Amino acid sequence: MKIVVIGGSGLIGAKLVVKLAQLGHEAVAASPNSGVNTLTGAGLAEALNGASVVVDVSNSPSWEDAAVMNFFETSTRHLLASEAAAGVRHHIALSVVGSERLLESGYFRAKIAQENLIKGSAIPYSIIRATQFFEFVRGIADFSTEGNQVRLPTALIQPMAADDVAAALAAFATGPAVNATVEIGGPERFRLEELVRQGLAASNDPREVVADPNARYYGVALAEKTLVPADDAQLGKTRFADWLKNSALRAHA
Ligand SMILES: NC(=O)c1ccc[n+]([C@@H]2O[C@H](COP(=O)([O-])OP(=O)(O)OC[C@H]3O[C@@H](n4cnc5c(N)ncnc54)[C@H](OP(=O)(O)O)[C@@H]3O)[C@@H](O)[C@H]2O)c1
Repeated sequence: MKIVVIGGSGLIGAKLVVKLAQLGHEAVAASPNSGVNTLTGAGLAEALNGASVVVDVSNSPSWEDAAVMNFFETSTRHLLASEAAAGVRHHIALSVVGSERLLESGYFRAKIAQENLIKGSAIPYSIIRATQFFEFVRGIADFSTEGNQVRLPTALIQPMAADDVAAALAAFATGPAVNATVEIGGPERFRLEELVRQGLAASNDPREVVADPNARYYGVALAEKTLVPADDAQLGKTRFADWLKNSALRAHA
């Protein structure tokens, strides 16, 4: 099958393209890097020619409220229209567990808008909602840093490895559309502040991580389970401690 990966040069996209090719499919990475821009529509018709499946793992370069809403709404509209014209049979999008509980943030309002456009289109779909990637833990720390302190709430988080996200997406991309939203997550739950503390300690980052029940997560007040998936979520195998060991090894190789 020809499977087009929108955002195929990104963290998840690059891994997904490799996995799909290993499974014997014609996996095409499409993004501004390769002349395909979903925001303007440039290059889309050519990229989708002959494609059976499209996986959208793109992300907005800006997370500012209006910019991110414009990115996910306009890109998704262009993409779905081009898919209809090209006869694509399955649209898969990567979204975020708990988006409907995070609507104080413009980013998650935009992800919900993206999901609603997909649900409203005639193209069979699978929306895969993932928890936070291990690779994103440093970004959480950086966003919540003031001086030498990282202030984070004590809410639960169930993060997963980007490799496991890509493996799950490869399985959905090569199977039938589920026409529903499916959750995927990691094998373990952490307190947010404990996860970030472990992540920073592994790279000898000197910042102090402070648990603060009133601290916000990207501007959002979290309840205990805002970020965690439901009990029927499909879980990846990679544990954070093992991933940290391997990424430290890779960094020193
Ligand atoms: N971070 C998390 O923990 C997390 C958790 C759950 C779900 N997600 C979701 O996962 C998805 C992918 O995240 P990621 O971290 O893999 O992204 P990423 O590494 O930031 O990659 C973003 C990709 O989007 C592409 N892109 C940007 N503008 C584009 C445009 N106008 N047209 C087409 N492609 C465009 C980029 O292409 P160029 O390289 O060519 O610019 C790049 O390939 C996002 O939708 C996010 O909501 C993230």
